[in-house]
Amino acid sequence: MQDVCRRFEEKQALLGVLGLGYVGLPLAVSYAKAGFKVLGFEVDQTKADAINRGESYIIDVDAQELAAAVAAGTLEATTDFERLSEVDSVNICVPTPLGKTRDPDISYIQSAVASIVPALHKGMVVILESTTYPGTTEEVILPELAATGLEVGRDFFLAFSPERVDPGNATYNTVNIPKVVGGVTDACTEVASCLYGQVMDTVVPVSSVRVAETVKLLENTFRSVNIGLVNEIALMCSAMDIDVWEVIDGAATKPFGFMPFYPGPGLGGHCIPIDPFYLSWKAKQAGSEARFIDLAGQVNSFMPRHVLNLVTEALNQREKSVKGSRVLVVGVAYKPGIDDVRESPALDILELLTGRGARAAWYDSHVPALPAGISGEKLTEWTTGSLGDFDAVVVVTPHPDLDHDLLLAAGPVVIDTRNALKGKTGDNIVRL
Ligand SMILES: NC(=O)c1ccc[n+]([C@@H]2O[C@H](COP(=O)([O-])OP(=O)(O)OC[C@H]3O[C@@H](n4cnc5c(N)ncnc54)[C@H](O)[C@@H]3O)[C@@H](O)[C@H]2O)c1
Repeated sequence: MQDVCRRFEEKQALLGVLGLGYVGLPLAVSYAKAGFKVLGFEVDQTKADAINRGESYIIDVDAQELAAAVAAGTLEATTDFERLSEVDSVNICVPTPLGKTRDPDISYIQSAVASIVPALHKGMVVILESTTYPGTTEEVILPELAATGLEVGRDFFLAFSPERVDPGNATYNTVNIPKVVGGVTDACTEVASCLYGQVMDTVVPVSSVRVAETVKLLENTFRSVNIGLVNEIALMCSAMDIDVWEVIDGAATKPFGFMPFYPGPGLGGHCIPIDPFYLSWKAKQAGSEARFIDLAGQVNSFMPRHVLNLVTEALNQREKSVKGSRVLVVGVAYKPGIDDVRESPALDILELLTGRGARAAWYDSHVPALPAGISGEKLTEWTTGSLGDFDAVVVVTPHPDLDHDLLLAAGPVVIDTRNALKGKTGDNIVRL
């Protein structure tokens, strides 16, 4: 164990990162910046090629830093998984989506582990960073690695450390977000902590893998449930003709015991709409109910439909029907300032509008195209003329560069689902 730690401390180790997406690529670049040699493993040849040309495809990864690491020979990407035998450690950062029946789909983790097994060697450190249900590391990964005959905690080291990165966050990044680590044995926790300690500002060891796995699920369940609560409050306020945004601002003046969450058009992204169901799935197997998670899921998934109701009502007030009206959805990324459309409620809203016969269009200064299967005409010009052609505009994701004044001057009714037009007044504004 000491030898393994020493290789990390002396930056002699070659670090592997498996899965070079929103989580893996920032981690790989952070390792390289800290002075390690890094080998990234990707199934997508186009991503590996882009990295090796020194090009970044992730918003939070500075292209110059990545190019410098590649040019210095400290960062390389490969699709050759036999080269896993070269690395001293490997962080697994592959997707963990939900299946069609909203059950965990851990097939990406399983295939990642299948590629590590033939390369497992003495002293190797394997750390899962993908969000998953409690028990995955010990029940799914450990048996595969132990079947090689190598012993965990002595011959190789296995740990879980949740990735908590927040794409687009200018303050918190891979390095300054505290890193929670739980190993299968104490030695595993120690070795994994030693690795992260070379790069991360703060390492937080916990007593077990299951605790580390559940930490991440609590964090995202906390957000899902509180967003569900405030969405329900928004629906109540709407029924009582009370401005929910002003209510939240008022409540947030309390200096203790209240943390503001804001309503919106529905959940988006790879974490909050998905992760709580990893927890509830496992808890149900253990005979425990997950009532808050299920309820929050119901309320949050109703919000796109509520937005459709607001559009319908606003058009009705103007003696128009949804069918045949031109409706523009502004912002299809799941949150401001980023280009990620995964699980974005804007996609649900576009589908609902199209399903009702609207001539739906979309505008997003950060997103070049809609994912396959979602239809809508792309608006490329943000001008009074182009906006004035619409009967209604739905603001779903207001990127920082959005010109609100131009939108209001253009004239169509604006359904503002995020309070993006805070402080603005006008007969053509409908707030969620
Ligand atoms: N995106 C976020 O904000 C965020 C934040 C915290 C945690 N997470 C979690 O981190 C994990 C990864 O998420 P992400 O957003 O980086 O996903 P992503 O889709 O952006 O990246 C995953 C990458 O893994 C690659 N991949 C898939 N299977 C592979 C395999 N067998 N071998 C090598 N590469 C493989 C994919 O091609 C892709 O490039 C998920 O569990 C997610 O829940 C994501």
